Amino acid sequence: MSIKHFMITLDGPAGAGKSTVARNLAKRLSISYLDTGAMYRALTLKALRLKIKLDDEKALTGLARKTVIDFKEMPDGSLHVTLDGEDVAEAIRSIEVTNHTFHAARTAAVRAMMVNAQRAIARHRSFVTDGRDQGTVVFPKADYKFYIDADLRERVHRRHRELKEAGEAVDAAQLKKDMQERDHKDFSRVVGPLKKAEDAIVIDSTGLNVQQTVDKVMTYIKT
Ligand code: DC
Repeated sequence: MSIKHFMITLDGPAGAGKSTVARNLAKRLSISYLDTGAMYRALTLKALRLKIKLDDEKALTGLARKTVIDFKEMPDGSLHVTLDGEDVAEAIRSIEVTNHTFHAARTAAVRAMMVNAQRAIARHRSFVTDGRDQGTVVFPKADYKFYIDADLRERVHRRHRELKEAGEAVDAAQLKKDMQERDHKDFSRVVGPLKKAEDAIVIDSTGLNVQQTVDKVMTYIKT
């Protein structure tokens, strides 16, 4: 199946399954997947490496201005995020980066740059994008908007399993605390907060596996 200039946005809280669902959905529809969280993570990785104070909005914005964040296509068709040309797809998944990315996400000038970059990347191709502000701010005219949600308990459980599989030992109680904190930061930031677009379709993935969630999303998509 191939569709021209088709935009699908998936927004929702951390651990709701957005990225896995987005990747699978893109595959089924033969279109690309844009992981917008990877961009905020990549900038955070650079700031951590350079020991730039993340709560210094001016310094972070200056760093963003001289940083090139892009995506390169892998042989299997997936996109890997690049930081000044370096493939950092794996490095951006560390707990350290995860727990520090809220600084970049709440900095207005950084968000403006990311939003512009996301629109430019998606200009000439069909995409499934996932993030927090995709249906509300970045692509308000998307063909389909979804808000993917799941119970906190299940989101913590999924993240715990993911991290365990990646070889990172984390305490589930600590993970729950971190996730609640991230939820709070995502919902309460002034620019680009996590919010369901008025016309978004809510998909509750609690108790559903990836396939079942993708199937549910697909029931709304008319090709
Ligand atoms: O989806 P994720 O966990 O990779 O997102 C990483 C961080 O970036 C998280 O703190 C939320 C933020 N983010 C954002 O503010 N806007 C987006 N479009 C995507 C992610």
